[in-house]
Amino acid sequence: MIKQVGKGNLILANMTKETIANAPQNIKEGAICTEESAQKYAGGIEKVLLLDPSAKQELSPEDSAAGFEYLLFGGILGDDPPRDRTKELRVQGFSGRHLGNYQMTTDTAVLVSKRVIEGGKKLSELEFVDKPDINLSSHESVEMPFRYLVENGAPLLPAGFLELLRKTNNDSLF
Ligand SMILES: C[S@@+](CC[C@H](N)C(=O)[O-])C[C@H]1O[C@@H](n2cnc3c(N)ncnc32)[C@H](O)[C@@H]1O
Repeated sequence: MIKQVGKGNLILANMTKETIANAPQNIKEGAICTEESAQKYAGGIEKVLLLDPSAKQELSPEDSAAGFEYLLFGGILGDDPPRDRTKELRVQGFSGRHLGNYQMTTDTAVLVSKRVIEGGKKLSELEFVDKPDINLSSHESVEMPFRYLVENGAPLLPAGFLELLRKTNNDSLF
C-alpha cells in the first residue's frame, strides 16, 4: 500500500505504542503510525471518507471534489465470507462509499480508490476478477476468495505476495 500511495501517504491509525515500536522498518519509514483515531488525526470526521462494501453510494471520480481529505479503509483481511468488520467504523458516523458488492483485499481497495479518485476512472471502466486461481507450481494452484483489479490481463497482486504464497505452500508440505 505504501508503494501504491507513496511514502508518507499511508496512515495507520489506532495503533498501540507497542505495535508502533515493533513495526517493521519499511512501515516505520514509509507510513505514518499513530495511536490516534482516523477522525482525530484528520481533524474531523467530515474530512474522512470510509470505503465500505455496505455503503449505498459507489465511489466516483466526482468524490475527489467533495471536500474529503482522507480515505479510510477498515478491518483486516482474513474472513471469507466477510464478517462486516467495517461496521465498527460505519457506526461512528463516517460518510461511506462502496467499490462494488464483492470483498477486495485492502490493498486492492486502496489501488482501486486511487484509480477512481486520482485517475478519474469510474468503477465500470476498470477490469476485475473474482476469486482468481493463482498458480503455485505447474500442478498446484490456490483460489483467492477476493476481487482483484486486472491490468495487462492478470490480477494485480502486491509485490512479493506470489513468492510468499509459494513459500508458505512449500513450507506447509514439511
Ligand atoms: C479486505 S476488507 C476486510 C473485511 C473483513 N474481512 C470483514 O470481515 O469485514 C478491509 C477493508 O477494505 C475495504 N474494502 C474491501 N472491499 C471493499 C468494497 N467492495 N467496497 C468498499 N470497500 C472495500 C473496506 O474499507 C474494508 O474495511
